[in-house]
Amino acid sequence: MKHVLSLSVLGLAVLLASAAFAESAGEKVFNQKCAMCHKVKGKGGAIGPDLSKISGKMAEPQLREKLINPKKSNANSTMPAFATLPKNDMSALLTYMKGLK
Ligand code: HEC
Repeated sequence: MKHVLSLSVLGLAVLLASAAFAESAGEKVFNQKCAMCHKVKGKGGAIGPDLSKISGKMAEPQLREKLINPKKSNANSTMPAFATLPKNDMSALLTYMKGLK
């Protein structure tokens, strides 16, 4: 019986820990598609600008446009276009980016 109890306590601890560290859907997209070039809060690549405070600089419509057509705001941009990103991923990503300010 004691055994069962300690196992369930352990199970609960693991559950809580994974909830605390779980990334949001948008953060996951960011880590997969953007972090190799962009830093957020000290983590990521340095090919593009640091995006830790990007929402203080660009509003959602501008961000969306940048993702769909990076060359529109900067003809020499080397950033790839994300126009084919699934709708769900795009909106999760934009929600995540709105929190970066
Ligand atoms: C291959 C590298 C690369 C990848 C991958 C990449 N970017 Fe970029 N990004 C850049 C570069 C270089 C710039 C700066 C030139 C420009 O303005 O386009 C930039 C600029 C930006 C800007 C404008 C920043 C500013 O301060 O003006 C935003 C916003 C942005 N990227 C978001 C993203 C997001 C979100 C993703 C993932 C979906 C992403 N980027 C993926 C290279 C990349």
